[in-house]
Amino acid sequence: MTNTYTELANALNSNLGSCVAMRVLSERGKKIYFPHKGILGQSAEAKGAEINATIGTAFEDDGTPLMLQTVKNAFAMPDHIIHAGFLYQPSFGKALLRKKWAEMLSKKNKNLQNIKFSEPVVTAALTHALSVSAGLFLNPGDTVIIPDLYWDNYDLIFSETYNAQIKTFNTFKNGSFDVAALSAALEEGESGKKVVLLNFPNNPTGYTVTETEANDICEVLKSCAKKGSDVVVLLDDAYFGLVYEKGIYKESLFGLLADAHENLLAVKLDGPTKEDYVWGFRIGFITFAFHGASVLQLKALEDKAAGMVRASISNTASTSQEILLNAYSSESYEKEKHEKYHTLKIRYEKIKHILAAHKEYEQSFTAMPFNSGYFMCVKINGADPEVVRQECLKNHGLGVIMLSGLIRIAFSSVALNKIEELFERLHKAVQAVKA
Ligand SMILES: Cc1ncc(COP(=O)(O)O)c(C=O)c1O
Repeated sequence: MTNTYTELANALNSNLGSCVAMRVLSERGKKIYFPHKGILGQSAEAKGAEINATIGTAFEDDGTPLMLQTVKNAFAMPDHIIHAGFLYQPSFGKALLRKKWAEMLSKKNKNLQNIKFSEPVVTAALTHALSVSAGLFLNPGDTVIIPDLYWDNYDLIFSETYNAQIKTFNTFKNGSFDVAALSAALEEGESGKKVVLLNFPNNPTGYTVTETEANDICEVLKSCAKKGSDVVVLLDDAYFGLVYEKGIYKESLFGLLADAHENLLAVKLDGPTKEDYVWGFRIGFITFAFHGASVLQLKALEDKAAGMVRASISNTASTSQEILLNAYSSESYEKEKHEKYHTLKIRYEKIKHILAAHKEYEQSFTAMPFNSGYFMCVKINGADPEVVRQECLKNHGLGVIMLSGLIRIAFSSVALNKIEELFERLHKAVQAVKA
C-alpha cells in the first residue's frame, strides 16, 4: 500500500490489512473507494430533512416523482412490452430505439439536421456512457480538461478507474463562462491528443452557456484542432433541454462541433435519465461525429462502443428500452414533457424572484450564475460551507450538498411552496454559524 491512493482508498486498504484480498487487489482495485463523503453520502445524511434539496431527481409539489404519463402508463404493461422485457437486447441497444433517438437528436438540435453522425449506442445511462468514452479515449496518465465546477463522479470514473488526470480550468469570470481559461488549458503542454469534457446544463451550477459563449467555445476547440492537435470533446448532455432563459444556447454543442474539423471528434453522451425523468431506468446513449467521417468510420466507432458495453455489462435493460420507445412514439409525449419542463421552470423563476427581493441574503450567500437544469449554487459569505451544510441539517431541517466549496441546491426536488423557506433557512443557518 502506498500513499498514492486517496485518503478514502487508503482507509479501505488499511482495513483490509495484509489479508489475501488486499494482496491480490489490482492497482485499480487498490485505487477505488466508495465516495461516502460526496453527493451520495451527503444525500443519505439529509434523508429525514424537512426540506431536502440534495439529490438530482425531480419531485412534484406533492412529493411524488415527476413522471411522464405515457411512461407511467406503460407500467400497466401490454404483452409486447412484457415479452420483450424478458429477452436480451443487442449490446448496441434496441435497433428501433437507437433510430428513434437519432431522429429525436436531429429534431431537438436544428444544427444537426444536415450533419452525419453515428447511430447512438445504448449504454446503462450516462455514467456508463462516460465510462465507455473513458475506456475508448483515455490511456492511463492521459489528461481530461474539465471546468473546475464539475460533477464529483468524474473523479471516480476518469481518475480512479481509468487512471487519467483531471486538469481543471476556471469556470466563471465576471458572471460568464471563462472561455479564455479553456483556451489557456488547451494551449498548455505540447500539441497532441487533447480530451475536453463539457457539461451543459451543468451539475452543480445549473449554468448553460449563452449563444455567444457556445460559439466562442467551439471556435477555441476548432482552433486547437486546426493547429494540429487531435481534440476529443466529450459532451455530457445529461440535463439537455432544461434551459429557462432567452439567449442561452438551447441545443447541444454537439451540433456545432460534429462537422467542425477533421481533427475534432465530438462525442455526445445523453439519455432519458434527467430529460425524461426516469432515473432508475438506466438508459443512456453515446453518439460520435467528426468532419469528413464516412459511414464505415462511424460504424466502426459504434462497434467500438458496443464492444465496451459487451465487455462491461453485456447489454442494457430491455424493459426500460421498450417502455421508452413506446413513450417516444406516443402522441402526447411532447406535451407531457413540456408540462414537466414548466414545473421546473416556475421553481427556477421563483428562486430568481426570491433572490432579487431579499438583498439581505447577500450577507450570507451569493448566487453563482445559473439559468437551467435541476440545480443552482451559492457561495457562502464568511463561513465554511461544510459547517453551514451541517448546521442546515442539524438545526434547520434543510438538506443541501457541499461541492467544490459551494452549496448546491437541487430545486428539482423541492416543492414550489417550500422554496422561499429554503432560502430563509439557509440564511439563518449561515448567520448562526457566523455568530
Ligand atoms: C452531469 C451528470 N452527468 C451524468 C450523470 C449520470 O446520470 P445517469 O443517472 O444517467 O447515469 C449525472 C447524474 O447526476 C450528472 O449530474
